[in-house]
Amino acid sequence: MKGYHDIVGDGGSRILDQVAEQRSRITDGLAGVRHLVAVGSGKGGVGKSTLTLHLAGALRARGLRIAILDAEFNGPSLARMAGVQVALFVPGSHKVSLPRTKNGIAVFSMGSVIPESEALEFESAAQGESHTWRATREFALLGEILASFEWGALDLLMFDLPPGAERTVQYADFLGPRASFLLVTIPSEVARGVVARSVAALSKGAFDGAQGRPNRRLLGYVENMSGYYCRDCDAIKPLFISSDEPAVLRIPCLGTVPFDPELARHCDRGFPLEDLPNTPVGRALDHVAQQLLDSLESTTEPPL
Ligand SMILES: Nc1ncnc2c1ncn2[C@@H]1O[C@H](COP(=O)(O)OP(=O)(O)OP(=O)(O)O)[C@@H](O)[C@H]1O
Ligand SMILES: [Mg+2]
Repeated sequence: MKGYHDIVGDGGSRILDQVAEQRSRITDGLAGVRHLVAVGSGKGGVGKSTLTLHLAGALRARGLRIAILDAEFNGPSLARMAGVQVALFVPGSHKVSLPRTKNGIAVFSMGSVIPESEALEFESAAQGESHTWRATREFALLGEILASFEWGALDLLMFDLPPGAERTVQYADFLGPRASFLLVTIPSEVARGVVARSVAALSKGAFDGAQGRPNRRLLGYVENMSGYYCRDCDAIKPLFISSDEPAVLRIPCLGTVPFDPELARHCDRGFPLEDLPNTPVGRALDHVAQQLLDSLESTTEPPL
């Protein structure tokens, strides 16, 4: 049996050529995209997907051209939230065309391809050892999606990332210097502590690009579930009891978004937010969207 040390060079796989070829297809495919924005968090369940979709909606309402890539391949939520669960992938003019929400946001989500009753499996040559290949396969798939779909001319391509401080860094490495990061937390100390770790992980190596240019940009964070919107009393009430010494996140806060059960219902049913315009959650999302836009436009463009 051959061990790793017995393999000479690339073992005849031409792996470096394959990676370079995929990279060049991705660069071509994203040539018309102005901003890549990844929404992440070390912590799960804090509202990354919800904010990605509804910030995209608020930006779309300003006339921007937006697409979302749901990078959570194993537990995709964007297809349901965006109402594209039964979408078809059809040939476009050059590549595969993306399904769109009613308000015109292009969405790629594994949830449009695989029903919720089924799991996506990353096959492994060795049974019971799927972890060996998982990250490699996951990122190869992400690359194929970026290279094969018709992203076209976009103001923003948003990535809804899976949770995990370490995984967020892997996405940052994969997406390279063009990608900016928006982190999501909730007002619990547990979540803030984990997100503080994500900030530390992403900040490491963030500024060692060629000629002192940034490798990645941390735009800031959003505090989601910042209070609970009670419809009966039309007031925002505390949801978490704030600590005397909250963990400090050393990046700008782009805004706070309250918990609104109506928003959760909209997400579950795949309804757009337009019918919640003049509510605290609608206004909060609109404010964060504007802050995000200002932050993107005010930061110098990183190298292509
Ligand atoms: N501000 C909010 N108001 C009401 N419901 C919310 C809010 N933010 C998130 N939710 C709900 O909380 C749940 C978790 O949100 P979401 O799936 O967006 O989190 P996530 O961070 O993407 O999770 P994961 O880490 O699994 O990807 C969803 O049911 C969503 O509808
Ligand atoms: Mg999610």
